[in-house]
Amino acid sequence: MNDKKMPAHVAIILDGNGRWAKKYGRPRSYGHYQGGRNLFRIAKIAQKLGIKKLTVYAFSTENWKRPEDEVNYLMTKPVELFHENREKIKEIDYKITFAGRRDRFSKELLEIINIIEEETKSHEGFELTVAADYGAYDEIITAVNKIDKPITKELIEENLMVKEPVDLLIRTSGEQRLSNFLLWQVSYAEFYFAKVHWPAFNEKELRKAIHSYQKRNRRFGGLA
Ligand code: IPE
Ligand code: IPE
Ligand code: MG
Repeated sequence: MNDKKMPAHVAIILDGNGRWAKKYGRPRSYGHYQGGRNLFRIAKIAQKLGIKKLTVYAFSTENWKRPEDEVNYLMTKPVELFHENREKIKEIDYKITFAGRRDRFSKELLEIINIIEEETKSHEGFELTVAADYGAYDEIITAVNKIDKPITKELIEENLMVKEPVDLLIRTSGEQRLSNFLLWQVSYAEFYFAKVHWPAFNEKELRKAIHSYQKRNRRFGGLA
């Protein structure tokens, strides 16, 4: 791997938790549990590899359409796990932020989001952004509504929830679509689709994606 050509901002659509669980004869919730654990493993590896920012799609504005028990699991399990792992969370040495709506979460979930952001905000070098109740349509509409001057690209960018352009966009589980993730920020991103389901995505898979990225010729509309 070429350390000089590391993508600064990697975004991952964490897909396939349910299919992964099904493959092992387990409930979908077990896939989400293992997917959640994998998120912290991959964040640590991304930090080690020299990536500056990792933005992950954890729950979309459309995922509220799922069965009530699944939504319920996704909204309550993190709160439980936060309290069970309180000491480990204090050891996190990178910044964690959240992107997405904040008006549809429970008081308990909002509280842990605020604690995590507050406790990690002074950490430098690597940032993990978790997109939860995030949708790009919602993000862009919210940004535009905040602007009371003639719209410019810069003004829109300043008001987005995720401000940095994406260099490398990865989606696991074989699906090749954006599902309303970072529509603005991926304008010049390189896309990589991994066959493995998210809970099975490991360091080797991440290195494969970066390797593919490093072989590409990014032209940004100009000439090579
Ligand atoms: C991604 O896995 C996690 C969320 C969207 C919350 P899925 O739950 O979409 O898993 P599949 O795609 O059904 O296998
Ligand atoms: C996108 O995955 C959202 C997240 C990974 C959080 P989905 O599984 O919801 O996307 P679709 O429905 O297959 O497009
Ligand atoms: Mg899915």
